[in-house]
Formats: sequence, C-alpha cells, structure tokens
Amino acid sequence: MLEHDVLVIGGGLAGLRAALEAQKSGVDVAVISKVHPVRSHSNAAQGGINAALTDRGDNWEDHAYETVKGSDYLGDQDAIEILCQEAGQAIIELEHMGVIFSRDETGHLGTRAFGGQQKARTFFVADFTGQAMLQVMYEQMIKARVRVYEEWFLTSLVIEDGECHGVVALEMITGTLQIIKAKAVIMATGGLGRLYEPTTNALICTGDGIALAYRAGAPLIDMEMVQYHPTTLKNNGVLITEAARGEGAYLLNSKGERFMEKYAPNMMELASRDVVSRAEQTEINERRDVDGCVLLDLRHLGREKIHERLSYINEVSMDFLGIDLAEAPVPVRPGMHYQMGGIKTDVNGATIVPGLYAAGECACVSVHGGNRLGANSLLDTIIFGRRSGEAAAIYSREKVDKQILESRVSQDENHLKEIMARGDNGDTPAKIRREMGVTMNDYAAVFRTTEGMGIAREKLRGLKERYQSVPVQDKGRVFNTNILFALELGFMLDCAETIVVSALERKESRGAHYMAEYPQRDDENWMKHISVKNTPGGPTLDYIPVTITQWQPQVRSY
Ligand code: FUM
Repeated sequence: MLEHDVLVIGGGLAGLRAALEAQKSGVDVAVISKVHPVRSHSNAAQGGINAALTDRGDNWEDHAYETVKGSDYLGDQDAIEILCQEAGQAIIELEHMGVIFSRDETGHLGTRAFGGQQKARTFFVADFTGQAMLQVMYEQMIKARVRVYEEWFLTSLVIEDGECHGVVALEMITGTLQIIKAKAVIMATGGLGRLYEPTTNALICTGDGIALAYRAGAPLIDMEMVQYHPTTLKNNGVLITEAARGEGAYLLNSKGERFMEKYAPNMMELASRDVVSRAEQTEINERRDVDGCVLLDLRHLGREKIHERLSYINEVSMDFLGIDLAEAPVPVRPGMHYQMGGIKTDVNGATIVPGLYAAGECACVSVHGGNRLGANSLLDTIIFGRRSGEAAAIYSREKVDKQILESRVSQDENHLKEIMARGDNGDTPAKIRREMGVTMNDYAAVFRTTEGMGIAREKLRGLKERYQSVPVQDKGRVFNTNILFALELGFMLDCAETIVVSALERKESRGAHYMAEYPQRDDENWMKHISVKNTPGGPTLDYIPVTITQWQPQVRSY
C-alpha cells in the first residue's frame, strides 16, 4: 500500500505551497493531482497578488480593513488579519524563490491598483501572475524532491473512527484504484467554477475536493457567496483581468457613458467586484447594453502600455474577437469567477475531521466573506497553503499509525463497475452538466430571487435523479476520461445543491448575494455564516458567528 505522512490533494498554488512547507519540516510528503501540476487553474490567475509593504507607505491594517469591507463584513477578521499581516513576507519569499515580479521605473517591485482598495498594493507579473508563480512553485517542489502522483483522480477519503487516514484514488493511466494511506490529508483542489456556464474557470474546476470533504462529514460555509467577475469576454466568459481597470481602463455603456459614476462615484471602475458586476448587469437589463455586454475601453492607455503590462488579454481579445485593445473597446459582461465559500477550516487549515486539512479556493477560512477583493486569492493560496502544510506536518508527527484494510478500495471499485455497466439510455454527463451550468447562471447569478432559486433547487433535484443513470461510453479502464466526467458531475451536483440551499436561506443582500426580495444588508439577523452539512436527509443548515476583532460593520459604499 502506498503511504505518506502528509498527502496533498491538488497541484495548484495552495497545494504546492502546502507541500513545500510540510516537506521542510522533515516529514514524508506527496502531492496527488488529476492534471500535471502546472496545468492547475492557478495558472490562469492574471492580475496579481496583494500585499501592503511598509516601504511603500502602506500598512497591513489598511489592507485588512479594505478586505473586511470588501467581504461586506462577513469575513472573519482574525483570519483576515493573519492574511494581511503575513502578506509582505510572502511576497519577498516568492521573489527570493524566483518569481520575476514586474518592476517599476525605479527598479523596485511594481504595484498596480486593484478594486476595492485605496492603495496600489497588487504585485504582478504582467498579466500572467499565476502562471509565473505556479512555474516557480513547481520548480521548488521538484528541488525539494516531493513525490507527485500526476493524473490520479480522487474517488473518496478514507475516514475511520471519524478521522481521515488517506484516500482512494484512480490512477488514470492504468485505470486501477488504489489506497494512498496518509496521516494527514490536505485538500487543495481549487474551485467549482464549472458548475456555471459560462465561467472564467478551467474545465478541471469541478468542486471535487469540496464535494468529497462534504461527503466525508466536513461542513461547508458561505457557499451562497459566488463571485461574478465584472470583465469576462463576450460569448465564452474568458477572463479579462481587473488589472486592465487597475491600469486605467474605462467601462462604457451603449451611450458611451462611464456608468460607474452612478453606482460608485468615488472608486468608479475600481469599486469591489460585486458592486461593479451589479452595475453592469443593471445597465444590460435596462437596455444600455451593447449586444448583452458593456464595453471595456483601453485605447487611451496606448499600445506600449498594453503591450508591456496587458499583453495576454490583448492576445485573448485578438484570438477570440479579433479586437486589438489599442484600437477598439472590447465587449465584456459579468461572469462566474470564484467561490468564496468552501470547506470550513480554522486559520491553520484544520477542518472538523481530524487529519483533514484544506487550503485555497476549496477552503473557507473565511477571509473573503461575501465578496473577495481581486488579487487576494493568490495571497490566500500562499498564506493558508503554508499554514496548512505546517499544521498537517505537526499533526502527522504526533499521529499513531493505523492499519487500513486493502478491502477499503472495494466500495469505490463497485461504484465504478456499476457506472460502467450501465446501458446507453440515460442522458450523457455533458447534457446534464450543460443544463446544470445554464440553471446556475440563470438563477444563482448576480441578481437572485426566491422564486428563481426555488426553480434552481427543483431543477437540480431532477438532474441529480437523472445523474443516477448517466452512461459511460468508453468501457475500458485505461485513461478513461468518460468515467472522470461522470464522477466529476456527481461532485458538481452536490456542490450546486449546497449553493442553492444556502442562498435560499440567506434572506438579505450581502456581498455577492443579492436577493431581490431582501435588497438590504441585515446585520441584526444575518451577520453570520451559513454552514451546510451532508446528512442522510440531505443538506442540513446551521449558523456560525462572524469573528470581529476591530472593524464594526458600517454602510458600504465606494
Ligand atoms: O482580474 C483578475 O486578474 C483576477 C484576479 C483575481 O481573481 O484575484
């Protein structure tokens, strides 16, 4: 049986940072990932990573306050303080590891403005920051000789006596299921963006870790908080980085007006994402749109700046729409981008299941609350990746070895066999996945209603039923992506259900969650996290108080 002290699930930034930290403390660490690590979705992060460096006249308290305000006072302030206090050191460490951050004209690390923040504190590598960081982190991991199981797919967690002792995973190249025993497991599987169509997220973002932890008894929190990014490309939802607005781009409606003046007169295009997305959607709904979109205008930035700092989005815009950003505005609209909620953890990544940790987008500490500030997600992966790696290593050193029976694999093997034995009568995973994506985008988006969410819940019930008979056309075991799509769909449907039941529960509007019937924030009744637990009767809800350290809720305007 394969065996490690700490097993990290996921090869993105949170996972690799966790693995490096755990390895540093001398325990035996491995990473398992359904794709090659540098193909993880961290790769797609564009605009940058936030940190308040004192030599810039900045301070972590301002960063923390703006994160709290951005979260619409749902973020836990003890965790936010840690995130912002540790950010400066993390940037310096990343630079020392080899991340080639862009520089300013004086040769110092450059910063750019990002939404919801008064100071320019976003460090960046042109507009492919995540890719630059991921490559360096992967090199560091190779250097540290961490074992990587590439293209292995998790089918379940091994939970015995209420504790996590490892995983069952499918080695895709052979099609065999194996147990990987571990004293501590860290979920770092990223987000669930593909529950929505369209989304900025990669095809692999299917909520696997969130669903598996939920099935294993770990509660999820803040699941109703789904971020729509204000600038995603017309037709396909590809991300056009907020850095464009950080560098000075305008948002225009069909009349050529910079409409953000009406919605956020102080911060304009750099209000927080929930505010800008709602403003855009209002312009679109009230027919001041351009073919279902608004326009992002970069022309005044000039070709040289676009080439130097925003070359990737110019390429994307040219490739998909034939638009040169120096010549013409590009049509954009709000699109699903990020899940603020996830597996509930403490500030060291621990879940309520002993031995199970989580970090990155699949986790919820909760530092983002109702709305994440742009460029705080890369920071979250690095800070809480490191902390969970350290905590899991300490836990693994103290844990007594437990015997796991090889037969534990048979439950998952039987499930695979049952799926593969199905006839061809049911709907394909692609069909159900598409219906789920459209349903979520229709009803659980920027503006929500109780009626719409009720429809979504009913549709999801129907899809879950139909899911029970999805066929798998490829009956072989070697690199069977059909079976993966079927299993991923099961994870996605579980996650979608938790979003919808949580959203129906929150009877107010806060951050990204806007309910037409309850248009105001209601601190008296709803300044609390909604947690959702998997029970035999379905998702069961509970409440958890928000931790406040120094910032009492105030009216939020930009
Ligand atoms: O717009 C962006 O570059 C996205 C950044 C983020 O989500 O943090």
